[in-house]
Amino acid sequence: MKDKIIVAFDVNQQEDFLKLALELKGTASFIKIGMECFYSLGPDSVRMAKDHGFKVFLDLKLHDIPNTVEKSCRAISKLGVDLINVHALGGLEMMKAARNGCDTKLIAVTHLTSLDQNSLGHELGIKKSIIDSTKNLAALAKEAGLDGVVSSAKEVKEIKKLCGNDFLSVTPGIRLNTDEIHDQKRVMTPSQAFKEGSDFLVIGRSITGSTSPVGTFNKILESIHD
Ligand code: C5P
Repeated sequence: MKDKIIVAFDVNQQEDFLKLALELKGTASFIKIGMECFYSLGPDSVRMAKDHGFKVFLDLKLHDIPNTVEKSCRAISKLGVDLINVHALGGLEMMKAARNGCDTKLIAVTHLTSLDQNSLGHELGIKKSIIDSTKNLAALAKEAGLDGVVSSAKEVKEIKKLCGNDFLSVTPGIRLNTDEIHDQKRVMTPSQAFKEGSDFLVIGRSITGSTSPVGTFNKILESIHD
């Protein structure tokens, strides 16, 4: 189970990155480098993660015209990361181009876990329900040849039913009942998320912002086995 928890290293200072890496080495095996970290520390962040033995999900959520995304996927796959992603809202052709650009495991973000039905309908003007819209984006990602999607754990069962069990489900928006939710809206606990069929959970602030990241990581693992 511990290999299925991806810890989001949302930091922008090398010393904070190295502190977390040293603390979590031997406990976590998979980390996520997102925009804040990559834009601050650059490809060195991937090298530092690899030097400490971590698998890396490079979460840059590419969303641009197909040509740009294809070439960017080609560039970032050369960094030797284990998982990369694009935004499914970039469309079918963009996702096909991303697939064409690299052999790295590639997934698409459906709807951010910080959005809810109200933001989708009233702000973005998407008339479908969040679940139907997420399923639609997941089906497009599958059609484009991607390996899976990022969604809320709340949508995993339906996505697996539609796209098959082998289609990867990576789910952020994970909180223990006692945790602060911050800017996330569609949240679930780690044990609920695994019960729904999530393949990987992405957990950031609950672990990295705690006084003992290792203690919190282990507490999360215990909560799954309860
Ligand atoms: O701190 P927290 O656990 O909320 O962090 C979640 C991480 O997952 C963040 O790094 C965020 O960028 C990422 N993420 C997300 N929702 C998505 C895709 C990625 O929260 N749909």
